[in-house]
Amino acid sequence: MQGELLRASQSRPPEERLRPDRSRSDCPVLLSRSLVLRAPHEEDIDALAHLANNANIATMVSRMPHPYTAKDAADFVRRTKAGEIGKCVYAITKGDNGAFMGCCALEPQLDEHTLEIGYWLGEPYWNRGYATEAAHALIDMAFRTRNHIDHIDARCRVTNVASRRVIQKCGFQFQGSGMIECVAAGGMVPVEWFRLDRKTWMSLRSWGDMR
Ligand SMILES: CC(C)(COP(=O)(O)OP(=O)(O)OC[C@H]1O[C@@H](n2cnc3c(N)ncnc32)[C@H](O)[C@@H]1OP(=O)(O)O)[C@@H](O)C(=O)NCCC(=O)NCCS
Repeated sequence: MQGELLRASQSRPPEERLRPDRSRSDCPVLLSRSLVLRAPHEEDIDALAHLANNANIATMVSRMPHPYTAKDAADFVRRTKAGEIGKCVYAITKGDNGAFMGCCALEPQLDEHTLEIGYWLGEPYWNRGYATEAAHALIDMAFRTRNHIDHIDARCRVTNVASRRVIQKCGFQFQGSGMIECVAAGGMVPVEWFRLDRKTWMSLRSWGDMR
């Protein structure tokens, strides 16, 4: 039986093989080389409140208040569990000790074929490749399990060198400039818009470790 399934799958062209038979909407736990991405829960509240209370983070994302209190963290966990903040919100945790390090998410867009990726990490964890690793895991999950998704978008402030680099390392391509609201900055801020389409992702997959 398994042999038949394997042969049937291998007889499909590569593009079809990377498209699942059914579209999923759940958000499975994701394991990568050094991370576990899982749903946020109550035990994360203290670390979340501590790490997120940082203007260097809040001013780079759209909807994070600053200062960020334990109540904000508890509300975030509750609203995430209730499905009120997007459908796919993950805690980024360290694979070896479970430490909560930040969050990432895939948010549906008005165009049903597009998701937008977002992420932040606590400052002590910056520049170790974790955001890139988390983004790779999220992108792989989205394209592998969501048949209808053709693009993933990313937006970052024009001043956000680190996030632009993460976006580039994931293979996104520049689309244009725009403005988005940033709660902590108190208004609209200029951003750059990038997009990764399924075909580009498939090419990157075949490059393996070159990514
Ligand atoms: C953006 C953010 C998630 C990056 O997380 P990270 O785990 O440090 O990212 P990575 O280590 O995977 O990659 C960061 C890259 O940026 C580079 N970088 C960081 N700061 C830089 C700087 N000031 N100048 C040039 N490059 C810089 C790093 O060298 C690294 O690139 P490299 O792998 O080619 O050396 C993290 O800085 C953060 O949470 N910032 C605040 C919130 C935010 O900006 N979220 C994204 C909103 S769009």
